[in-house]
Amino acid sequence: MKFVTLMGSPRKEGNTATVLAWAEEELRAQGHEVDRIDVIDCTIGYCDGCFRCQDADGGPGCPLEDDANVIFRRIVEADGFILASPLYCWGFSAPLKALLDRSVCLVKRPASGDPVYMLGGKRAGLLVTAGGPDEGNADLITEVFSRLVEYLGCERTGRLVVPYCRLQMELGPNVEVQARDFAQDMVE
Ligand SMILES: Cc1cc2nc3c(=O)[nH]c(=O)nc-3n(C[C@H](O)[C@H](O)[C@H](O)COP(=O)(O)O)c2cc1C
Repeated sequence: MKFVTLMGSPRKEGNTATVLAWAEEELRAQGHEVDRIDVIDCTIGYCDGCFRCQDADGGPGCPLEDDANVIFRRIVEADGFILASPLYCWGFSAPLKALLDRSVCLVKRPASGDPVYMLGGKRAGLLVTAGGPDEGNADLITEVFSRLVEYLGCERTGRLVVPYCRLQMELGPNVEVQARDFAQDMVE
């Protein structure tokens, strides 16, 4: 299978990148393909709410022709994707939030007939690192992720929250094992 991984931290060698790399390594070790995107390096404008994208045929169709459309095309070609984010103010980091807002273009709403889900059936995983606990802290991002997955017509296949890591590399010894288990959940 092929997975696009979206790394949403500005710290390219921080906690999120480290945990994601373990999951990616496990996917590759099992013969899967991984296409990593560091979202911080991408140009992603804010959704301006025009909704023209939802009528467009044959592609993401957002009139803002920046890296969001490029990323979406890569996900369309994959079997699944992983959103990897540091928990920022109980939610996704700003670069990922900008991208997720733009994902409304992936559900087409023809004038007649049912909606068309460009990511329909794709596997979707959430990986979060947080300075605080999971409970009462990462619950909101989990809920947002679940609703997004439902909205996009995807299948929620994995969730990993790594709590209590604030400084770079403050990761407990069992986190690598959890990351590899998370990768396993993505392909089962
Ligand atoms: C702007 C900002 C907001 C944050 N908000 C939260 C938060 O709401 N809850 C939390 O537990 N940790 C929060 N943190 C801590 C980060 O989630 C945590 O340090 C994370 O592991 C950083 O990942 P990184 O090393 O990949 O950047 C915040 C950190 C920053 C810089």
